[in-house]
Amino acid sequence: MNFDLPVLAPSILAADFSKLGEEIGQCTQAGIQWIHCDIMDGHFVPNISYGSGIVQTVRKIAPDAFLDVHLMIENPDQYIEDFADAGADLISVHYEACPHLHRTIQNIRLHGCMTGVVINPATPAELLKPILPDADLALVMSVNPGFGGQSFIEGSISKIRELRQIRNDLNLNFLIEVDGGVGLNNISQLVSAGTDILVAGSSVFKADDIPQRINQLRKKALAASGNVV
Ligand code: DX5
Ligand code: ZN
Repeated sequence: MNFDLPVLAPSILAADFSKLGEEIGQCTQAGIQWIHCDIMDGHFVPNISYGSGIVQTVRKIAPDAFLDVHLMIENPDQYIEDFADAGADLISVHYEACPHLHRTIQNIRLHGCMTGVVINPATPAELLKPILPDADLALVMSVNPGFGGQSFIEGSISKIRELRQIRNDLNLNFLIEVDGGVGLNNISQLVSAGTDILVAGSSVFKADDIPQRINQLRKKALAASGNVV
């Protein structure tokens, strides 16, 4: 699948699950191609969200969308097959949850999915250097994972710049994604810093008018993309 960067990726965690089909439909009709699914196990993070059944449902609702599955779970290897079968296009795992990260990444690829590695706010970006040649995406958490609707942690911007630098220096081509507290107030700055994929939960789904908010966010992101510094 080819995308025009930067990509806006709504996280359905903030959606109204009693009308999930309708809200996802509003997103895809507004041109959204990439949907972010947050999987939380109540162990790695202090909250439980949903499992592969919902990913399968999202796949049915949006057969052509790119499904980005963010695993905030312990022992992700045990569930990779489930999420791949449910229709994930990309599976991201946390650096902090994987003692054998390289093996886990290989396992994701073996199941036919693109691979992502995620760092929590307290984890330095440079720790990802050895795995980045094998990853399709690096995700910078800009809140402590576990809940939607939290405030953006400012220090995340420098990590995005650092990853961009590493990508240039090592001549790699992984995508850079940011997740948590992304909204109208910071999307331009995040794109200017080098973010390719912007995850937005509350900002999209808690808006009074979802398609309008998507257009506002995308417009700002596009304007800033000519301006990466
Ligand atoms: C946080 C999740 C995020 C979250 C983003 O643990 O990984 O994807 O849903 O939500 P907002 O945009 O509301 O911060
Ligand atoms: Zn997420």
